[in-house]
Amino acid sequence: MTRNEGTYKAQSAAAMKRQQEAEKAQETQRAAEAADSAVDAADTAVAASADASSSAQSSPHGTAQTDQTAETDSKRKRTKMVPVPSHSIVPERDAHKNPILECRHLGIDFGGLHAVEDFNIMIGQSEIAGLIGPNGAGKTTVFNLLTKVYQPTRGTILLDGVDTAGMDTAKVSQAGIARTFQNIRLFDSLTVEDNVRIGLHNQVKSGMWSDIFRLPQHWLSEKEFHDKSLELLDVFHMADNANDIAGSLPYGAQRRLEIVRALATNPKLLLLDEPAAGMNPSETAELMENITKIRDDFNIAILLIEHDMDLVMGICEGIAVLNFGRIIAKGTPEEIQANPQVIEAYLGTQGDDGEVA
Ligand SMILES: Nc1ncnc2c1ncn2[C@@H]1O[C@H](COP(=O)(O)OP(=O)(O)OP(=O)(O)O)[C@@H](O)[C@H]1O
Ligand SMILES: [Mg+2]
Repeated sequence: MTRNEGTYKAQSAAAMKRQQEAEKAQETQRAAEAADSAVDAADTAVAASADASSSAQSSPHGTAQTDQTAETDSKRKRTKMVPVPSHSIVPERDAHKNPILECRHLGIDFGGLHAVEDFNIMIGQSEIAGLIGPNGAGKTTVFNLLTKVYQPTRGTILLDGVDTAGMDTAKVSQAGIARTFQNIRLFDSLTVEDNVRIGLHNQVKSGMWSDIFRLPQHWLSEKEFHDKSLELLDVFHMADNANDIAGSLPYGAQRRLEIVRALATNPKLLLLDEPAAGMNPSETAELMENITKIRDDFNIAILLIEHDMDLVMGICEGIAVLNFGRIIAKGTPEEIQANPQVIEAYLGTQGDDGEVA
């Protein structure tokens, strides 16, 4: 077996294991939901409160289940959020596992400016989380810290329990964090497929000799790359655009391609920096569905920055609000929307279109 095949198989095995774990978690979740429906059907408040206290005891963190149970959207499945350390909440289905991301006292200074200060957060393995706040609050800087574009001045970043201290951007990508950028960064003059392949090459490296002499395994991996690229593009029904030049795509399609390229690196955590920016309302609505679908199909966590509050409140399960580099609130969409400090700092400036200035 070549090193290339070995790496690929090891990754496939890891992906399969993750898939199995996720399926197991989904089964548990379904069982929990079935139990919930049964309780909902019971017409006594006593029965309901008994259920709440019994599920609190089953929390592996030993923390009491509060009334933080939330409906992310009346049309969506209800997500039960449970408290974990760092004054965070994660979906109950993730509470027995390592958080996929944990930041402890994370901070960075630019000269005298504390751009991010004492940033503490936990995100569940299958959570869709939101990071919101006014312009200049430090949101993109947090992504730059997580992906090691900037090395933190202070604090710790744990990815799936592993400290990323000392890692550079390439290492952190291989460890499982992928991102898109606020200002789209594609290889404009390359084809759509080649942009995706760049992401794939990040995880599967052909052997140098097979590359130079074009040995059979080179072609094998080429075919795998091609098939995998089309499969990934199909997430956004873009396989037919594979041969188009990336820079010629409409703006919304370029944003979608950036997400596909990020997914090609086989992440555990996908960071999306204003994915709906510049999209029209129907593209945004489709994006919302696709973000949830990506989370489900790829069994990953997603942390997104967005100013479109319909999107944030519609799909995020836990939200952190940043203002002047500091988290001023964490909670479910309902809690965030009702938080006077958040309304004053940010949501108060919301326009009719659901965007905040
Ligand atoms: N490399 C840098 N050098 C100096 N200051 C920086 C640097 N990067 C970011 N900043 C500053 O850090 C602060 C936070 O910027 P950041 O881009 O993270 O905000 P943001 O919350 O993403 O805003 P927006 O919603 O407008 O994208 C700003 O005051 C910005 O000017
Ligand atoms: Mg930004």
